[in-house]
Amino acid sequence: MSMRIFSGIKPSGMIHIGNYLGMIRPMVESQRRGDLFCFIANMHSLTTLSDANMMRQYTNDALLDLLALGIDPEKSTLWIQSDVPEVAELTWYLNNVTTVGLLERCHAYKDAIAKGLAPNNGLFSYPVLMAADILLYQSDRVPVGKDQKQHVEVARDIAIRFNNTYGNAFTIPEEEIADEIAVIPGIDGQKMSKSYNNYIEIFGAEKPIKKKIMSILTDATPVEAPKDPDTSIIYAIYKLFGTQEQSTALADRFRAGGMGYGDAKKQLFELLWEYFQPFRAKREELVANMDYVASLRKSGAEKARQVASQTIDSVRKLVGVL
Ligand code: ADP
Ligand code: TRP
Repeated sequence: MSMRIFSGIKPSGMIHIGNYLGMIRPMVESQRRGDLFCFIANMHSLTTLSDANMMRQYTNDALLDLLALGIDPEKSTLWIQSDVPEVAELTWYLNNVTTVGLLERCHAYKDAIAKGLAPNNGLFSYPVLMAADILLYQSDRVPVGKDQKQHVEVARDIAIRFNNTYGNAFTIPEEEIADEIAVIPGIDGQKMSKSYNNYIEIFGAEKPIKKKIMSILTDATPVEAPKDPDTSIIYAIYKLFGTQEQSTALADRFRAGGMGYGDAKKQLFELLWEYFQPFRAKREELVANMDYVASLRKSGAEKARQVASQTIDSVRKLVGVL
């Protein structure tokens, strides 16, 4: 059997070009090297989101985004976490082989405490739900950003503990950290992030996207002066999307002088707008066919459930509720 690659995205509003390069594009590419299980972690969003309409909206948007950006339901298994509620049952079994100490060491919880917040138990036990995702589907590899590495290690610990206590139920997963994927800068030069409000969204309207790109932070070098492309945020983003020739041409124009930053920003806007054009078209097509999207949601959940029900059945027997 081919390697099962497992990946999840927590729906939280608009996705940006950092999410795309850091997570979604690698996910789309992994469809070529293995059996991709890819899901929308809406139950994870509940730890911080308590508005039902927003939950529905974010979940639906995430499904449209992933389909538009190239997740192919023919090649992969794509579903929404809550459509296979066995994951909640598994979370409970796993809770009983997980020590409080292990969860107290996890970053998200520690950060919340450090900020003086009073985190709910959902946030505290978030890594157990994440372990249940990974283990329910017998995943071999879990590609994640550095921020999620610890959570995959926790999933490994829990899997080993469960297998040792009850007998072999789970594949032991391994994380894959893609070092070569750089942190994409936002329009202010910090890491692009929704929480810093410095992002360039993918599926927004033309005007606001253009406005954001035109407001990228620059220095005060005059138009006629030569400029160093390697210290420019405009160029840093441009070269992530441009071909080699396009990037070299822009770098040459920076160095030659005579090009203002406004001009460079316009070129960046045009490049990005064109880059995402086919994805926008695909998304519009999907929005016009929501019945079709609903049928994909249903068949994805059915496919996922076939694997989930086998795992949960053996777990029920091992713990003695069956
Ligand atoms: P945000 O910081 O905008 O809230 P998330 O934390 O939800 O984004 O990110 C989801 C995933 O998208 C991350 O695990 C990471 O892989 C990727 N990602 C987000 N921002 C960036 C970035 N600036 N550069 C590269 N990858 C990113
Ligand atoms: N916690 C991940 C995030 O915030 C999303 C996620 C939930 C996930 N379950 C997962 C990622 C399982 C990989 C595997 O981005």
